[in-house]
Amino acid sequence: MNSNSQMILQAENITKRFGGMTAVNNVSFSLAKNEIAALIGANGAGKTTFFNILTGNYIPEEGAIYYKGQDITRLSPEIRVDLGIMRTFQLASTFDNLKVIDNLRLAYYRATNKFSLRKTFFSRMDRIVSAKIDECLETFNLTKLADRMTANISLGEKRVLEIAMSLVTDPEVLLLDEPFAGLSEVEIDECLTVLRQQVHKKTILIVEHKISKIQDLVEKVGVMVEGVMIASGETNEVLNCERVRKEYWKTAE
Ligand SMILES: Nc1ncnc2c1ncn2[C@@H]1O[C@H](COP(=O)(O)OP(=O)(O)OP(=O)(O)O)[C@@H](O)[C@H]1O
Ligand SMILES: [Mg+2]
Repeated sequence: MNSNSQMILQAENITKRFGGMTAVNNVSFSLAKNEIAALIGANGAGKTTFFNILTGNYIPEEGAIYYKGQDITRLSPEIRVDLGIMRTFQLASTFDNLKVIDNLRLAYYRATNKFSLRKTFFSRMDRIVSAKIDECLETFNLTKLADRMTANISLGEKRVLEIAMSLVTDPEVLLLDEPFAGLSEVEIDECLTVLRQQVHKKTILIVEHKISKIQDLVEKVGVMVEGVMIASGETNEVLNCERVRKEYWKTAE
């Protein structure tokens, strides 16, 4: 058990190397319950690598991850999902050949059933019924798109669908890797509206290149430069600190 139990998710002194390259170098970062935070930094700073350590996709060489005080450093991504830690991917991960509602049904089914998908499953999609699925369609303004093929909705709508899919099972923690990548300003605003609804209801970490879009949304920021977390803490304090001004802004602008 870890001492700081107020933190729902804690990373302590995480180091991850790829061959001779240290992608994440002795990084510590923590999220309090229902806090919304951002992890920012330039291309190749190590954000996704660190994110993958939180999700269980990578095991670090050094350091530990705690979830509600429990050491989860070596637990699989599947077990972490069961514990309540959900993620989205840097690139859209919806199924284009399914209807919008079926993507939600699939996300719900995958998270609530321990059995593997059977061949017959796709033809019986409509048997997966849950108030949670309807609620999700409603909350994320997807009801009007429910029966559309996902291939035919916009990238912004897909991103909203992805966030909806990750929340359909009511996880405690939501980890988002560049949720606005490739979106237009209008689509980003749609996504932001969706995320604002979750503020203080979920613990959320958003990985982004630039802080500008989410500055007013996040309470805490961590700044990574070349694998190192050069600053973390309350958003404005961090963004105005000397080291961040020198080392982050020059690469991010
Ligand atoms: N699987 C891997 N094998 C080898 N090197 C990797 C691997 N994944 C990432 N790296 C390297 O680790 C460093 C950090 O990459 P990472 O993807 O974590 O950065 P990032 O901050 O997410 O960048 P971006 O903003 O471009 O998404 C980079 O130099 C990258 O080339
Ligand atoms: Mg990345």
